[in-house]
Amino acid sequence: MSITKQIKERKSVRSYTGEPLSEEHVNSINKYIGQLNAPFGTKARIQLIRAKTGDQPIKLGTYGVISGATDFLLLIGEKGLMPEVGAGYMFEQVVLYCTQLELGTCWLGGTLKRNDFLKQIQLSEGEELIVISPVGYKREKRTLLESIMRAGAGSDKRKPFGSLFFNNTFEIPLTETDAGNYKTPLEMLRLAPSASNKQPWRVMMKDNAFHFYYHVGRFSANDMGIALCHFELTCNELHLKGHFERIPEVSSSNDVEYVTSWIIE
Ligand SMILES: Cc1cc2nc3c(=O)[nH]c(=O)nc-3n(C[C@H](O)[C@H](O)[C@H](O)COP(=O)(O)O)c2cc1C
Repeated sequence: MSITKQIKERKSVRSYTGEPLSEEHVNSINKYIGQLNAPFGTKARIQLIRAKTGDQPIKLGTYGVISGATDFLLLIGEKGLMPEVGAGYMFEQVVLYCTQLELGTCWLGGTLKRNDFLKQIQLSEGEELIVISPVGYKREKRTLLESIMRAGAGSDKRKPFGSLFFNNTFEIPLTETDAGNYKTPLEMLRLAPSASNKQPWRVMMKDNAFHFYYHVGRFSANDMGIALCHFELTCNELHLKGHFERIPEVSSSNDVEYVTSWIIE
């Protein structure tokens, strides 16, 4: 499955069948996780665990938001802007890999009872449990609560291209035509999941580079990592050459914080 297809197919899944992941799926996911490294010099790791809750819908752990999940991915990392961006990038790679395996996932930052999950893992000094995601077989029909949550967050909607992406200054919206070859990587970024679907990312095209900014908020550094993941993996697939680099001269503006830049090669 191409990256663009994985990105388009991925949707948060909160209703699962209750069937535990097959041994084959567990092995594939563990193998994939085992060879991943987080970008931006980040120290982060991902662990797949099985919740021992029998076959009752899981209320414990996720405030009842998730039903029928038995397996969970846990993202463990360090605090700070770039560590959280890098960790977010790496976790989204696993989410997309699971999408390719036709498994459901759902990033969970707010609606998880951390202590329940912390009992099942060992953290080293400086490590924190950042987010989790259930991973498993999707139920055909969403639960009522899931439908209400999706509607509440407007999960099927994204902000228009021109209100997320800018041309030279934040006063000029970037058009899809002016984005040229980068129209698709930006469009794939636009489809990224974000906490409460806030879409805090902003990108400015300027001087042979794309500068990435974000509105600061809870989980928005993770959101930024997801966005950079979608952008870079799509560039790789389209053979658009470049690399991320934090440029000291680029400054944050009044309401958005600068993160990094994609330098076109
Ligand atoms: C960092 C992060 C944290 C999230 N936390 C939660 C959460 O606590 N509970 C929840 O139900 N959904 C959570 N979500 C899922 C978002 O609500 C969802 O991605 C967004 O509404 C877009 O919908 P989609 O993923 O189906 O495209 C989170 C997403 C991200 C990226």
